[in-house]
Amino acid sequence: MTEYSHVSVLAAETVNLLITEKKGTYVDATLGMGGHTACLLNALPPEASVLGIDWDPEMAGVAANNLKPFGDRVKIAQGNFANIDEIVTREGIRSLSGVLFDLGISSLHFDKPSRGFSLKHDGPLDMRINPDNPLTAYTIINQWPYEQIEHLIRICGERHSRRLARAILESRRVKPLETTAELTALIERVAPARGEKIHPATKTFLALRVAVNYEFDNLTRGIQKVMPLLKPGARMGIITFHSLEDRIVKETFRLMANMGGWQLVTRKPVKPSEEEIASNKRARSAKLRVIEKL
Ligand SMILES: C[S@@+](CC[C@H](N)C(=O)[O-])C[C@H]1O[C@@H](n2cnc3c(N)ncnc32)[C@H](O)[C@@H]1O
Repeated sequence: MTEYSHVSVLAAETVNLLITEKKGTYVDATLGMGGHTACLLNALPPEASVLGIDWDPEMAGVAANNLKPFGDRVKIAQGNFANIDEIVTREGIRSLSGVLFDLGISSLHFDKPSRGFSLKHDGPLDMRINPDNPLTAYTIINQWPYEQIEHLIRICGERHSRRLARAILESRRVKPLETTAELTALIERVAPARGEKIHPATKTFLALRVAVNYEFDNLTRGIQKVMPLLKPGARMGIITFHSLEDRIVKETFRLMANMGGWQLVTRKPVKPSEEEIASNKRARSAKLRVIEKL
């Protein structure tokens, strides 16, 4: 048992929409604590298996422990789903009956201050999903030029991007910004909340995480690399948690359907029910889109 928990979002909907072949091999490209993998395995017969991938070695270890009861029906690989083709081949798998991407980070990441993801807990400006990566939020905040910081937070929807980027540069001239609490305090001072539903630092924190982990690039590469691996009839399901990510999925799926050989299973994204949102706040912005290979 771990001290952290993560409630899988849109679990029943994902299982219902993803499974088309009962005895197949599936990939959970964002294993996390293994919640969706467990749901898939519970819904499938013993012949079916899941390869779970996570970029974070700590998370892969947590999932390995949680999924022990499934024995050899589950394999776990640590790696970036942007290289899903190499990972699947290395595991000796030739074709897939389905793949799931449940994007972003897990509750464990948010809840563990040392990972530096949360604006609620003080920690180092880190935000790396894989701690072996060279780029950290500290580097961006303390070394990137004004234009790059301003652009990054603007494209992630921050209205006060210029004011914030200027304040970051002024502050770091005196002393580097070291912690999430220092950055949060700076944002609260420079662009205080004015009745918005979200904390004033939310968009800057999201922007930093996305940049530190090349999240948009990984997503595009992951989709492209997995396409040839799926069997005819197999489905790809993607759960997103913010509009920038959802736009990438929506446009890529539309392009695939127009190109031929693919059919949208969900014309509109599947969203969580009121009950799910009431019991899991993290689910409120989730959207599931599914496409099938013809
Ligand atoms: C939202 S959580 C998944 C939760 C999981 N579905 C569950 O039910 O427990 C997303 C997971 O994807 C992992 N991740 C993020 N980007 C990744 C990438 N490029 N390659 C592989 N794993 C990634 C994160 O480390 C995190 O554990």
